[in-house]
Amino acid sequence: MWKTLDDIDVTGKVVLTRVDINVPVRDGRVTDATRIERIVPTIRDILDRGGEPVLLAHFGRPKGKVVPDMSLRVTVPALEAALDRRVRFAADCIGAEAETAIGALGEGEVLLLENVRFHPEEEANDEAFARQLASQGDIYCNDAFSAAHRAHASTEALARLLPACAGRQMQAELEALERALAEPDRPVVAIIGGAKVSTKIALLENLIDRVDVLVIGGAMANTFLAARGSEVGRSLVEHDMLDTARAIADKAAGSACELILPVDVATADRLEAGAERTTHAADACPADKMILDVGPDTVERINRALEGAHTLVWNGPLGAFETQPFDDGTRAVARRAAELTRSGGLMSVAGGGDTVGALNGAGAADDFTYISTAGGAFLEWLEGRTLPGVAALENGA
Ligand code: 3PG
Repeated sequence: MWKTLDDIDVTGKVVLTRVDINVPVRDGRVTDATRIERIVPTIRDILDRGGEPVLLAHFGRPKGKVVPDMSLRVTVPALEAALDRRVRFAADCIGAEAETAIGALGEGEVLLLENVRFHPEEEANDEAFARQLASQGDIYCNDAFSAAHRAHASTEALARLLPACAGRQMQAELEALERALAEPDRPVVAIIGGAKVSTKIALLENLIDRVDVLVIGGAMANTFLAARGSEVGRSLVEHDMLDTARAIADKAAGSACELILPVDVATADRLEAGAERTTHAADACPADKMILDVGPDTVERINRALEGAHTLVWNGPLGAFETQPFDDGTRAVARRAAELTRSGGLMSVAGGGDTVGALNGAGAADDFTYISTAGGAFLEWLEGRTLPGVAALENGA
C-alpha cells in the first residue's frame, strides 16, 4: 500500500513533488487551469507542514530536447493565481540552475523546475538521472495520477530512491477508482463512448469481467451495429474492427454482464451545428445519413440501468457532443447520473479524453462523485493494467 502525506514528516524537508500541469496553452496563456487547481491541496499541505515544495513536471512531448515553446515557465502565472503566492522558476530540473534555486528557496515559497522531458533520460527512466533528481530533495511526493501510466524517471525510478508518498490528488484519485472497480457497491454500470473500438478493446474486455451493465455509445457503437448486420448508412465505422466487435459482443453474451447498445439512433446528413436531426431504429439508419447520437429510447434504457445501479464509471461521450443538437444523448444521461449522485444513490466516477468536457457541457460534472483529469492513465486503469507510477509508490523506499 502507498503512503500519504499523513505518513511522512515533511517539516524542514525539500519535497520533490511530481505534478501534472500539462495544461492547454494558447498565445502564451493557460486556457484551462483545472489540472493546476487540482494540485493546490497537496502544495498547501506541504507548506502548512513546514515543507518546501519543489515541483517536477513535464509539458508536451519535446522528445529529450530543449524546446522553448514547451517551457513550463508559461504556467507560472496560473500557478501563482491558484496558490495565491509567489512561485519561483528554475530553467533546468537538474544541475547548478536547479541546485541554486532550491538552496535559495525561502519559507512558504514554491519552486517549479523546468520540463523534465527536456532531458532524454526522463522518458528512458534512467537511473542516474533519477539519482540526480533525488539528490536535490529529501522526500518524493507523486501527485500526478494522470502521468502514472508512464514509467519515466520522475514518475517511477525516483519513487524508489527517496521516502515516497502519494499527494492528495493521487490519493483521492486512487481511492475513487478503487471504490468504483476494485471493491464496488453493485450493480456497477460502465458507459463507454468515443469514436474508436480499436483504442478500447482491452478496456471493453476487462470491463465485461468486472461490471454488471456495459453501455456502448458514441461512434464506437456504429461498429458494433454494423458488426451485427444493421444498416448504418454513411456513419463512421471501423470496418477492420467488425470481427473484434463481434467477439466482444459474444464475450458479453456468454457472461453475466448485460451489454446495452443503442436501440435507436439520431442521424443527420452531415455533422454540422444545427443540421436536421431525425431518429430511427438502430438497425434502420437511412443510406444517405450518418449516426451522430443515441436516440431517446436508448437514453431511457441507459437511465433505467443507472436508476438500478450503485456505481457508475463513465468514459467517452455518447454522441458527437461538441456539435449541437448531437449532444442531447450525452446531456440527458449525464444529467440523470448527476441527479442520482446528488440524491445519494449513485457513486459516479468519470474520466479520460473528452469525457470531462462533455460532462462540463452538460452542467453535470460538479455533481459527480469524482472526475478524473487523467486521459491515458484513466484508460489504462480501466484496462486493469498496473500503472508504473502507482506501483513504484507501493514498492518505494
Ligand atoms: C496527459 O496529458 O494525459 C499526461 O500529462 C500524460 O502526457 P503524455 O501522454 O505526453 O505522457
